[in-house]
Amino acid sequence: MFNKFCPIVKSVAFICVVLGIFLNLSDGVYASSELNRVNYAKDTIYQIVTDRFYDGDSSNNPDGDLYSETDLHKYMGGDWKGITDKIDDNYFTDLGITAIWISQPVENVYDIHPEGYTSYHGYWARDYKKNNPFYGSFNDFDALISTAHSHGIKIIMDFTPNHSSPALATDSDYVENGAIYDNGTLLGNYSNDLDLFHHNGGTDFSSYEDGIYRNLYDLADYNLQNQTIDQYLKQSIELWLDKGIDGIRVDAVKHMSQGWQESLMNHIYSYQPIFTFGEWFLGENEVDTKNHYFANESGMSLLDFQFGQQIREVLKSKEDNWVDFHAMIEDTSNSYKEVNDQVTFIDNHDMSRFYDEADAKTNTDIALAVLLTSRGVPTIYYGTEQYLTGETDPDNRKQMPGFDRTTTSYKLISKLAHLRQLNPALGYGTTTERWTNEDVYVFERKFGNNVVITAVNSSDQSYTINNLQTSLSEGTHPDVLEGLLKGDSLHVDQKGQAATFELQANEVAVWEVTEPANTPTVGHVGPMVGQAGNEITISGEAFGEEKGTVLFGSHQATIVSWDNSEIVVNVPDIQGDFYTIEIVTNDNKESNAYADFEVLTGKLIPVRFIVEEATTDYGNAIYLVGNTQELGNWDVEKAIGPFFNQIMKEYPTWYYDISVPSNYTLEYKFIKKDSSGNIVWEGGTNRSYVTPTEGTDSITSTWIN
Ligand code: NOJ
Ligand code: NOJ
Ligand code: CA
Repeated sequence: MFNKFCPIVKSVAFICVVLGIFLNLSDGVYASSELNRVNYAKDTIYQIVTDRFYDGDSSNNPDGDLYSETDLHKYMGGDWKGITDKIDDNYFTDLGITAIWISQPVENVYDIHPEGYTSYHGYWARDYKKNNPFYGSFNDFDALISTAHSHGIKIIMDFTPNHSSPALATDSDYVENGAIYDNGTLLGNYSNDLDLFHHNGGTDFSSYEDGIYRNLYDLADYNLQNQTIDQYLKQSIELWLDKGIDGIRVDAVKHMSQGWQESLMNHIYSYQPIFTFGEWFLGENEVDTKNHYFANESGMSLLDFQFGQQIREVLKSKEDNWVDFHAMIEDTSNSYKEVNDQVTFIDNHDMSRFYDEADAKTNTDIALAVLLTSRGVPTIYYGTEQYLTGETDPDNRKQMPGFDRTTTSYKLISKLAHLRQLNPALGYGTTTERWTNEDVYVFERKFGNNVVITAVNSSDQSYTINNLQTSLSEGTHPDVLEGLLKGDSLHVDQKGQAATFELQANEVAVWEVTEPANTPTVGHVGPMVGQAGNEITISGEAFGEEKGTVLFGSHQATIVSWDNSEIVVNVPDIQGDFYTIEIVTNDNKESNAYADFEVLTGKLIPVRFIVEEATTDYGNAIYLVGNTQELGNWDVEKAIGPFFNQIMKEYPTWYYDISVPSNYTLEYKFIKKDSSGNIVWEGGTNRSYVTPTEGTDSITSTWIN
């Protein structure tokens, strides 16, 4: 067993990881020799603004006005070679990092924005089939991927399918006029091809529809229903998948129709499944049911802004406390179907850095400890381990100040990121509150027999902790952090009750038990949606070395590979619906049932459904429901909508972009729903429409009374 080599998770953890790779232990850190590209539960992500991390090759730096050593709006020289160099000297491996999120790698505009900004951040694409030369050549990119993989590190790319670059309807000389190229050939720009882009002005963020069909700031907004754009973006991502990327962070998902994005995810999962998470920005205290619906139904995870904002309110602005924090943990465990797949963070390039000089470094350390032991896939924004500061863009994107491996936060991240790889309670487990008040938070993560307890006291006074109940085994458990943040061992009796102890001011302690299950236990399935034939990876414990059976409901799936902790199967050819996944081992032991895998009817394409003359009372809205999984299987609770009626079409015409199975006879009706859920059905017989085999489509109808 892997754990027998590594009985104590301490400074030896790193050596154990290396040993794990070396021996290729089947139940060790890496379940098979390949990295698992759809399961990030045991990973810790490190987010890099490529231009700001490390200049490994000054010969690719731009000349002239695009470059500066001091102006943060300009390119500063960081590149893929720089990241590769730091992987090679084990800066990441020592830190426990197993995934690196890099800036969008594609070619960006060269022109400078009138306000002096360059595209150093990578969000202003020009040609998705070319590399950004200031980050390096395609050869440099290949070297980054292969070096990362040989160190057990995955590479996640940022991706912006929402827009190209800044453009103005009134001035075709503004920056590069949003021009977009297909491997050097101009596809169009904001003034010469009106259908490639939306021409509805900039969004005022007043509604979901407004954000989708108007420009985000001055960025030329794609009309994703345009066949050329749809095909171009889907082909482009194939190029990067072929290059070996392991994950995608999708920019601005709130600003694109969910229907189009579901077809993108279906495309990716049918081509080369990899973990994909979107950015749906939420402000402080913002809770949005549409955000939850997207995370649950789109096939994509989300950056967990509820988590990020809440931890900042406890430890940064100090407007909230740990009672509020735990309420967020409870709420999100209900609102997200797969809460462990959401991507957590304490700061990023679009908000102030967590640490600022006016505050104690300990608050950053406490935030990191909670981040790294909570549910979700944790992300460290580059430089946090060096206590880098910066309030607003671009000050929050300064260059790495250095690569010191002795800071407290570097050591803390290292210990806990390694613990994530070893103890599956962190990646797969549930969360239970064990002892909480405004200043103190003690919580337990548990998966099978694996347990991790984190205890934090973020106040300046010490607390006596009585009657702490745990799932830890009897005995004395050393602090995983080895006293780095004042923690001590914990004594636990045979009932799991801890002996009374003092939790000192600003103390963090972490205790754990790693004990693999002996009954088959599924901890993760990725992705959680697929069409017949798509590859699905099931992770967990005690599946056995001999091939058994995998069931989707009562249907057997074809097994591609099987080992004790990881099984790859093909989605069976069954009716579109939600299914429970269950493992039966070769010696007939049944696993837990893993709920809610969505089988699609087939390949998805985005179709705009338009219905005219649909008059409604104020507060009522139009939805669509039909005969496939994608259209809610005639269940009005799952009807698609509410339809829009302000921008692309206006009331009493309504429209919505929906992912539907291609080459399929859909039957459906429009319905009117009021705010209490009362339904008025359309008259007449069911509508029938045969969808095209590929591309996009639009179908216009008139409401039938
Ligand atoms: C969100 C990104 O994180 C932000 O930095 C960027 O400017 C906008 N999307 C537009 O791409
Ligand atoms: C959204 C729907 O709500 C969901 O049920 C459907 O299956 C997905 N779209 C995927 O098509
Ligand atoms: Ca450079």
